Amino acid sequence: MPATPLEVENLSAGYGPTRVLESVSFSVPAGARLAVLGRNGMGKTTLLATLAGQTRRYGGQIRIGETDVTGISSALRARTGLGYVPQARCIFPTLTVEENLFVGLKDRPKSDLQEAYAMFPRLFERKRNLGSQLSGGEQQMLSTARTILGRPSVLLLDEPLEGLAPVICEELMKAFAALANAGDMTILLVEQRIQSALDFADHVIVLERGRVAWRGTPSALVADHDTVERLLGVGGLH
Ligand SMILES: Nc1ncnc2c1ncn2[C@@H]1O[C@H](COP(=O)(O)OP(=O)(O)OP(=O)(O)O)[C@@H](O)[C@H]1O
Ligand SMILES: [Mg+2]
Repeated sequence: MPATPLEVENLSAGYGPTRVLESVSFSVPAGARLAVLGRNGMGKTTLLATLAGQTRRYGGQIRIGETDVTGISSALRARTGLGYVPQARCIFPTLTVEENLFVGLKDRPKSDLQEAYAMFPRLFERKRNLGSQLSGGEQQMLSTARTILGRPSVLLLDEPLEGLAPVICEELMKAFAALANAGDMTILLVEQRIQSALDFADHVIVLERGRVAWRGTPSALVADHDTVERLLGVGGLH
């Protein structure tokens, strides 16, 4: 599938009676890279989960390209081209790396697993290892590769670098950049490692208590020391 734009309009959502997102609006052009930033508990995961159709929605709309996916199930959203790599790396611990990847292949031929191995050669080296035997970084690679095999046109990545060593973070960010440069995916990246996210992204939104509190380019954010300190709680960037 080619990259498609994502449009979110006045989205309000939460869990049962708990409202978390309030009237969130933004759009991401086809093939662009959006960083979603914000301190802990500000609603970043809830936003991605809502886009994937996994929370309770109170109002608003979500469009992927020409398709309004607001009312459809998570499974149908995935078929419409939405790929979600959740914060909890949901791999099957008792299946091998290769068996985990088969799940992402769906109807595609086995030979297409090469796409995943080309992206993450470590997975090829460990293809017969069980999911439970992987390091955190390898689990993240597996979780991402499995989603990529579904050839999403919009990819949602929730804190892929969480808890990983700098060298692995670099490897992952390189793989994401290669995906983005190939031009067939629109990518939303939630990250607490602000510098990595800003190096990657061309657009940024910052969430505060479920609302979009700031939007702009990475360079505008770096220059806006007040926002960086107030909304991200760090003293400065660069
Ligand atoms: N399943 C749930 N049921 C009820 N409330 C929830 C649930 N998941 C999250 N919340 C609440 O929603 C708010 C936003 O949480 P969310 O996980 O979206 O934040 P986040 O920005 O991803 O944080 P972090 O950086 O820690 O991952 C928090 O107040 C959280 O307690
Ligand atoms: Mg989160």
